[in-house]
Amino acid sequence: MKLELSTWLEVEDYLKRASGLMIPVGSHEQHGPIGLIGTDALCAQAIAEEAARTANCLVAPPIFYTPAPFNLAFPGTVSIREETFEALLRDMLDGLIQQGFDHFYFLNGHGANLAPLKRIEEEFSSRSNCAIRIRSWWDFDAVNALRSEYYGDWEGMHATPSEVAITQATHRVVESDLATTPPRKLTPEFIRDHAGDRHGPPEEHRRDFPDGRVGSHSALAQPEHGAVLLHAAAGAVAMDYQDWTTGDD
Ligand code: NI
Repeated sequence: MKLELSTWLEVEDYLKRASGLMIPVGSHEQHGPIGLIGTDALCAQAIAEEAARTANCLVAPPIFYTPAPFNLAFPGTVSIREETFEALLRDMLDGLIQQGFDHFYFLNGHGANLAPLKRIEEEFSSRSNCAIRIRSWWDFDAVNALRSEYYGDWEGMHATPSEVAITQATHRVVESDLATTPPRKLTPEFIRDHAGDRHGPPEEHRRDFPDGRVGSHSALAQPEHGAVLLHAAAGAVAMDYQDWTTGDD
């Protein structure tokens, strides 16, 4: 059940039997020559919506605008400061808690969201009774097995074939000559040092990764893969959500 397509009466009824809300969180940033700017949010949204149907819970509209400062030299990217993002989350949760929600499951699709989400989790655990869980859709074994089966090392770090495949399955397929050549391979040191999207200033990031891909061979994506990845991730998220909200975890 989508929150934005519900009436307040339906939400009030829901709160008599449940108190959880799934919130997809993404980004609005370049995703290479064939990846959609909304990729992270669109992936999190599609997975959360399917998971919410299985888990019979409410799902909020995705949060597109999040921190992605390193991609600002690519047109179309929108980035907000971490403190703005945290302020938005704080206001959202404070209002929802007043209404009776007390379990918030953030389904994440963008590495740079993790640090601010974690800070919000810590803040609310010290000043409210609500429970917060943060999972990225690639955290689950079933999803990772597919990512490595389909793409191996070419999954890379940004504009990954797996996220592009999911948006191909749900939205559209884009082609570009710029994507046919494999990107520069990343070293293990680079991957370690840049986890959680710790990238440099925008001009430097565009200079180092001129087509926007960071070690990811996006052109390996296929919509058929995307459908399988989406379904695997949604199944894992639904199970994780149910275990968490029923206290089995
Ligand atoms: Ni992404």
